[in-house]
Amino acid sequence: MCGIFGCIIREGEAVKLITDGLKRLEYRGYDSTGVATIQNGQMSIRKDKGRIEEVVSNLRILDMEGQIGLGHTRWATHGAPSMENAHPHTDSNESIALIHNGVIENYLELKDELLEKGHIFKSRTDTEVIPHLIEEEMKNDIGLQEAMLRVLRRLRGSYALVVLSTHEPDRIFVARNESPLVLGISDNGTFCASDVPALLPYTNQVTYLRNGEMAVMEIDGYQILKISDETRVGRETQEITWSPEMAEKQGYKHYMLKEIYEQPNSLKDGLRLQERYLDLLTQFLDRGKEVFLVAAGTSFHSCLAGSYILSKIARITSIPVVSSEFMERYGSTVGIDSVVLTVSQSGETYDTLKAIDQARMRAATVLGITNTVGSTLTRVSRAYLIQQSGPEIGVAATKTFTSQVLVLAQMALRLAKSRGKLSQDELDELDEKLQKVPDWVEESLEKLADPIEKLAESIMDEELFVFLGRGISSATALEARLKVLEITYVPSLAYPAGESKHGPISIIEDGVTCVFVCPQGETRPHIVGSIMEMKSRGARIISICEEGDSDIIRLSDQVIEMPKGIPEVLSPIVYIAPMQLLAYKLAVMKGLDPDMPRNLAKSVTVP
Ligand code: M6R
Repeated sequence: MCGIFGCIIREGEAVKLITDGLKRLEYRGYDSTGVATIQNGQMSIRKDKGRIEEVVSNLRILDMEGQIGLGHTRWATHGAPSMENAHPHTDSNESIALIHNGVIENYLELKDELLEKGHIFKSRTDTEVIPHLIEEEMKNDIGLQEAMLRVLRRLRGSYALVVLSTHEPDRIFVARNESPLVLGISDNGTFCASDVPALLPYTNQVTYLRNGEMAVMEIDGYQILKISDETRVGRETQEITWSPEMAEKQGYKHYMLKEIYEQPNSLKDGLRLQERYLDLLTQFLDRGKEVFLVAAGTSFHSCLAGSYILSKIARITSIPVVSSEFMERYGSTVGIDSVVLTVSQSGETYDTLKAIDQARMRAATVLGITNTVGSTLTRVSRAYLIQQSGPEIGVAATKTFTSQVLVLAQMALRLAKSRGKLSQDELDELDEKLQKVPDWVEESLEKLADPIEKLAESIMDEELFVFLGRGISSATALEARLKVLEITYVPSLAYPAGESKHGPISIIEDGVTCVFVCPQGETRPHIVGSIMEMKSRGARIISICEEGDSDIIRLSDQVIEMPKGIPEVLSPIVYIAPMQLLAYKLAVMKGLDPDMPRNLAKSVTVP
């Protein structure tokens, strides 16, 4: 979603830090860029539709002076991308500049009220009502802080807000409800941002603002207050161990590629989960009469794979649900005996957090798996696990998918052990295989880089892809399809292979490319029949199978051969890696930017 950065510094020009900070948030997706600074009590604001470099150069943003300021990259929710709709937005006198991430639900009613009082609006955004409301409150002879508090209490919806004003030229005011906002402090001053990577070059000492809180930033610190009653909140800063380098590309052309190749390491970290939290989560899971796995996008595919793993290893039935559908589907049945295990890389996905709210209201036990320390998910879950993938900047989730499935597999193993569902030998063997997963991923990525490049070249002009798998491989197929679809924009389908004869097969004709995911295991004999069904209708068959699987190799036009010995139940973690690489190569060959697919944002924090 929108990127936010603000700072008050002793040394240097704020605009330099603001533009650098915004660049580090580009992965969130955006359409417009804007900056405001104050110098000698004078506010300057420059903003326009377009990429940061473009807007910074066209509007000579680096000439803006001042040691206090804020910047914003906008991802449109209300009003098309345009100069007028770009943030910052101001009050009538341009003495208040405000940036916002989120959605104000009651803005139309607030706008009507302001229009009646004679306010003139320049944009079609929901955000612009806020500085006008503050202006209106300040007419009551109150300070900016009090005016802001009064306005915040009237807003319904989600927001991370940052306010700069000539009324208080040495302070920045920030507030949060549902949209993430993090504060940072260093010897050079104080900072705020919508996400940690923007702060890392300046500080690793951060404080996460929580829902319903406002903070007043000054050069040497910040004070947090509750919006409801202005009580002061004391909160220690947290040290972030990610270095700025960790969040950069480290020589790879794109973040996505870097993150694909980071998987052997992120998976090794994922095998070092804190035992007591793993135990706690599995104990809660074990107590549930029904278990829901709730997530969106790629994290949902992790849940889908997880439901097969929980069933096969721990003999637990779980229900994977897309978070935006959770309440409609299970709202009237979820209750005190339900466990809702939510999975979210960012820990800030609106739909997932909404599902959690509802589940908590109905007394369900909410558990979380996330990649983001201090995220909302960690605060609202009864117990949570950090999946240890490290920062993921590419919009397309890669290493966070494999880590999530790995965490779920470890939970399943724990449960199988505590429930006595597998023999000691079976447990030991699975555990041994789990430990080998990072090496299998490494081996596949090393061996397959060239074959995948050649495969991508041979199919780059295809106009449709169909991904098919059986059992747990249907989750791998769905995730492979999402990767190709979201970064290459090529229409693609994915189905459990057995389902294709009930409809999707009608689109198969000469030359349609079908990608089959076929690891060794229980489903392997059935996939042969599915391949033949497609082949006999003229499809071009690409299979990803175990090395030397002669039947599959014979039936396929092209194959990707994977290391031997990977158990089917763990196969999504390894078999997805070449598919991620394939999607990446296709996007690059088509001249697209895989890190910033159109219309998408890394973290979807709006309804
Ligand atoms: O942060 P989350 O895991 O909750 O995000 C969920 C989805 O928005 C995310 O997985 C999205 O589908 C990715 N772009 C997929 O690559």
